Amino acid sequence: MDIWRIRGGRRLEGECAAQGSKNASLPILAACLLCPGTVELSRVPCLRDVDAALAILRHLGCRAEQAGDRIYIDASGITSCEIPHELMVQMRSSVIFMGALLARCGQARLSLPGGCQLGKRPIDLHLAALRKLGAVIEEDGGEIRCAPSVLRGAEILLPFPSVGATENAMLAACAARGETLIRGAAREPEIQALQGALRAMGADVRGAGTDTLRISGFRGRGCVRLRIPPDRIAAATLACACAGTGGKICIRDCDPGQFSTVLYFLNQAGCDIITKHDRVTLSSEGALRAAGQIATAPYPGFPTDAQPVLMAALLRAEGESVFTENIFENRYRQVPELRRLGADILLKGREARVRGVRRLHGAAVNATDLRGGASMILAGLCAEGETLVRDSGHVARGYEDLDGCLRSLGAELTIQREGENHGLYIQKPQALG
Ligand code: EPZ
Repeated sequence: MDIWRIRGGRRLEGECAAQGSKNASLPILAACLLCPGTVELSRVPCLRDVDAALAILRHLGCRAEQAGDRIYIDASGITSCEIPHELMVQMRSSVIFMGALLARCGQARLSLPGGCQLGKRPIDLHLAALRKLGAVIEEDGGEIRCAPSVLRGAEILLPFPSVGATENAMLAACAARGETLIRGAAREPEIQALQGALRAMGADVRGAGTDTLRISGFRGRGCVRLRIPPDRIAAATLACACAGTGGKICIRDCDPGQFSTVLYFLNQAGCDIITKHDRVTLSSEGALRAAGQIATAPYPGFPTDAQPVLMAALLRAEGESVFTENIFENRYRQVPELRRLGADILLKGREARVRGVRRLHGAAVNATDLRGGASMILAGLCAEGETLVRDSGHVARGYEDLDGCLRSLGAELTIQREGENHGLYIQKPQALG
């Protein structure tokens, strides 16, 4: 259990660089299985989920080395196409290895993935797409067996632009005989990053960023070098932090266009925003106004991953902001915890009505998931007094050195990592009032 201790009330000032993208790194690491030679990746964020992906690659017989933000993968000698349950449950993205193993070995054996509990999160669209390519898949009590099969190009129609199902189909289709069309595909920047990586490895993939992908053939290349793009959600999180606390920050090495919808609402709330191709400068007085109606949607709509952090920034905004969560059924788990800091949030089905309060006060809260945990840290930065966030490792799954970055911008916070003993006694959260 990591314990974040945050003393709120400080403005954020200064400059920091965006981390590499978690959600681009993970499918690209799976794609390394397709590459007959070595792959060198740079700007890979140091995250628990990246460690989990490396553990899977090593289990399959790959050589996987990490040196700082560089990772070297050699999948030429893989020895297995089976991923044990204990590795599958570490994260949701483990399921993307199914498409990669089918492409590399024509078969795979794994189980249902883990990851943030944001709702049902079935994988029916993944399985339907892979079956469309000719994969023979048996599901049995959480176990998934893909029997040896020859993949054939097909026309796949996704009824919902699932990011993961699109990525799985892209990977498997690289080894299919003939052309594959994926219609209704996800358009997220991470799909574009995966297309870029697959093309560098020798695949003929086109159309990323649109709702139709075309994949035909793969001529493996020996040695491939790739740079992971910046993390749009981590950058958006820093922007929301400064919006809520007040201050002026510049986030370098990011692509503001990829989180322009978040910047739009921060501007609506009263922040001054200047963007350049690789950076954004945000100034805020901290006294925001409500941002109106915010509905999450597939890209290029407002990202569901930024919903909790924008919510935290708007807790003290004058008026009422209304969130509608359209992607996940259970993505308001942060709300009861934010209420412990004095937030006024009314939940009704997929809607959350955030009525701005004049002040927030410190409290002890439990991180519920990756982005929910980040929202509590941001709320703690805006609260008077001290906030303790008990975090069973959610935040470190997706944010690289978030505490160091916030401290470099002037925040007053420390983390007691699991196993470190500062003689600290953590009181269970008490009901307020
Ligand atoms: C990716 O998850 C991201 N994770 C998520 O980010 C992100 O929230 C999500 O896309 C949406 O943008 C990674 O890239 C590793 P989906 P994924 O398949 O692929 C339903 C974070 O915080 N669905 O697009 O799992 C599903 O239940 C994480 O970094 C089916 O019904 O998302 C959900 O309601 C959290 N059947 C919706 O579609 C399926 O087979 C979107 O899921 C697949 C999905």
